[in-house]
Amino acid sequence: MTPARDIQGNPPAAVQRSVSHSWGQRNLSTSPTATFNSPPSSWGGALAQRGAPKQLQPFNTQDIKILLLENVNQTGQDTLRAQGYQVESLKTSLPEDQLIERIRHVHVIGIRSKTRLTERVLREAKNLLVVGCFCIGTNQVDLDYAARHGIAVFNSPFANSRSVAELVIAEIIVLARQLGDRSSEMHRGTWNKVSAKCWEIRGKTLGIVGYGHIGSQLSVLAEAMGMNVIYYDVVTLMALGTSRQVPTLENLLEEADFVTLHVPDLPETRNMISTAQLDRMKNGSYLINASRGSVVDIAALIKAMRLGKVAGAALDVYPHEPAANGDYFNNNLNHWGEDLRSLNNVILTPHIGGSTEEAQRAIGVEGEHSCCSSPPASGHSLTLFAVAEALVRYINQGITVGSVNMPEAQLRSLTLDEPDHARVIYIHRNVPGVLRKVNEILGDHNVDKQISDSRGDVAYLMADISNVRYSEIKDISDSLDGLSSCIMTRILY
Ligand SMILES: NC(=O)c1ccc[n+]([C@@H]2O[C@H](COP(=O)([O-])OP(=O)(O)OC[C@H]3O[C@@H](n4cnc5c(N)ncnc54)[C@H](O)[C@@H]3O)[C@@H](O)[C@H]2O)c1
Repeated sequence: MTPARDIQGNPPAAVQRSVSHSWGQRNLSTSPTATFNSPPSSWGGALAQRGAPKQLQPFNTQDIKILLLENVNQTGQDTLRAQGYQVESLKTSLPEDQLIERIRHVHVIGIRSKTRLTERVLREAKNLLVVGCFCIGTNQVDLDYAARHGIAVFNSPFANSRSVAELVIAEIIVLARQLGDRSSEMHRGTWNKVSAKCWEIRGKTLGIVGYGHIGSQLSVLAEAMGMNVIYYDVVTLMALGTSRQVPTLENLLEEADFVTLHVPDLPETRNMISTAQLDRMKNGSYLINASRGSVVDIAALIKAMRLGKVAGAALDVYPHEPAANGDYFNNNLNHWGEDLRSLNNVILTPHIGGSTEEAQRAIGVEGEHSCCSSPPASGHSLTLFAVAEALVRYINQGITVGSVNMPEAQLRSLTLDEPDHARVIYIHRNVPGVLRKVNEILGDHNVDKQISDSRGDVAYLMADISNVRYSEIKDISDSLDGLSSCIMTRILY
């Protein structure tokens, strides 16, 4: 990673622009901070390398202002500060009126699950380029509104897969040995030494429904403990170790001693385990659900357990979950609450599958990749990258790979051997004839590379053009902003 070349010092005030939506609204800055154009000295080594990637910057020397809410992990904060951005971090979320007031002034906002970025809030976010959800879900953000206004949203969907897989391993043993009940009895002063219907897990069959990020890790861990693993997935997937894919859910239910669910919340997965499926399971088998609360018909599970069909269950997720910690897990929340709590050998946890220190850290920054290195080739391998790094790549290079609401686009980095280049980013409505008009505007320059992709009504175009002077950058930007299809223009150099 190398710093941007500050072409002939600061650009003339007339061509300076902020990174906000349209030229007219932008604040002009005459005092770029040293940090923004002078990244940490640790990057210096790369400067000398021929062909080393050039760190792009927004065509604006104004600092990028970032507001982080809800106590975003320190590693994530450090990643952003290392870029020279102005980062303010608050420990809590903000009430909506305060949020609206604060969001007007920032280019980037980082949130977790409690901050709701509704249309009402985003409408006021006139300078916002990108949202980082330092969590798994993005339901708290109006993704469509954001996309239609050129605001990219990133999250970190797979940072806690390992934590969930480990929890499930623990639960398999706890259920097989009835540890929850024995421990509760001891807490009440009761000594109850039993071995009836307590089992080793060695040689038992684990049936994994959904062989994705979590299911496949679990497969490896379970085999290491001597279990046989079978799995069912709607997609044909390569088996890890000696595990085996079975053709139907029914096959899995009939063969498995332990059934564990790792599917997404989709119309097809709602109540995918109900009376008919529980009937198919082996007598005395176990059910684990750490996926989504909609996947298991819990009333049917309660019946199956009372009949002795199912010998134990572990649930981490529920159809209705309280919004805050407290005494809320009762019949008002879910009508079967008390019945469920009265059963033996049932482990109930409050949606903590992914709640570990490691997962929180991973959501802030993940893997050993430098935030300045080239991104992975496919969206799937982006799972190794984290939210803070995705934000840096988007701000500095315009790369959208991993965004949940923008088309995924990336171009290889410009290098130091490519002086006077600029990267044009044009977020626009996906209507016929746009590319022709854009290329007419860019046509006077050498377009080295260009990529364009769309997602619904929104399209994203990136083009690297060469031999550009500052004065021309303003013209290009104005011309693109003037097109009727324009949502947002950014130029990085
Ligand atoms: N308890 C927690 O704290 C916690 C934490 C992280 C993830 N989760 C949940 O765990 C689940 C799995 O997460 P993941 O990261 O492994 O997801 P993933 O997308 O990597 O894998 C899901 C797998 O399910 C398969 N699938 C989809 N529909 C199916 C169907 N009808 N039948 C069988 N297979 C189907 C997909 O093909 C995919 O292989 C998700 O619902 C996620 O929200 C829970």
